[in-house]
Amino acid sequence: MSSLPVFFFVFSILLSQFPTNSIASDFCIADLSQPDGPAGYPCKDPSKVTVDDFVYSGLAVPSGNTTNFYNSAIRSINIEQFPGLNGMKISMLRADLDVSGVTPFHAHRVAELLLGVEGSVVAGFIDSNNTAYYKTLNKGEVLIIPPALLHFFYNVDSTPAVTYSFYPSDEHHVQIIDFALFQSNLPSEMLDKVTPLDHAEVQKLKKLLGGTNL
Ligand SMILES: *[C@@H]1O[C@H](CO)[C@@H](O)[C@H](O)[C@H]1NC(C)=O
Ligand SMILES: *[C@@H]1O[C@H](CO)[C@@H](O)[C@H](O)[C@H]1NC(C)=O
Repeated sequence: MSSLPVFFFVFSILLSQFPTNSIASDFCIADLSQPDGPAGYPCKDPSKVTVDDFVYSGLAVPSGNTTNFYNSAIRSINIEQFPGLNGMKISMLRADLDVSGVTPFHAHRVAELLLGVEGSVVAGFIDSNNTAYYKTLNKGEVLIIPPALLHFFYNVDSTPAVTYSFYPSDEHHVQIIDFALFQSNLPSEMLDKVTPLDHAEVQKLKKLLGGTNL
């Protein structure tokens, strides 16, 4: 036997050791019709997967209604919106900031790459030594925001701004400080104690943002 047939013989034995649906290890499109568990969503049957499972088409239109307290809207693109992201350790977000629009202070466990797409924003973060880093970000420029640090951006121009954010994780779970404090059910008298604000200020902000237990 020359070495070539031996090689193919060994190779075919090796192949036979693998499950026949080995594309299952290439991807796992989340099956959103099944419940999310500790190990994530179960995979959609690979034989039913089409190219459309790898395409998300919702970024071309504005994120939503910007007539609100922040004059801004965001659209997070996580597994629930785009099941093809499942297991890929990447996700994204589109932010639309009207004139004077703001994305208020927030944090998430993973880093963020913030890309200016339209207009100009001032974007910044504060490190754990309370040093602020901020800069005007124009179309085509990116800012890398380290994991877990508080950060913000706002429109500095007289035209609407659009940014895209990319995260090295399937889900990015943004926690917005204003909402955590004033849109939550933490009682006002506790907020009075744990923030520098007085009771009237706390109640005003809770009413404004829709918090309960005033
Ligand atoms: C946007 O939101 C504002 C405030 O809630 C509302 O008055 C307005 O009708 C909304 N616009 C659209 C197009 O839904
Ligand atoms: C931390 O902040 C203080 C006060 O602003 C500054 O003097 C110090 O150099 C900073 N330390 C580091 C490691 O950046």
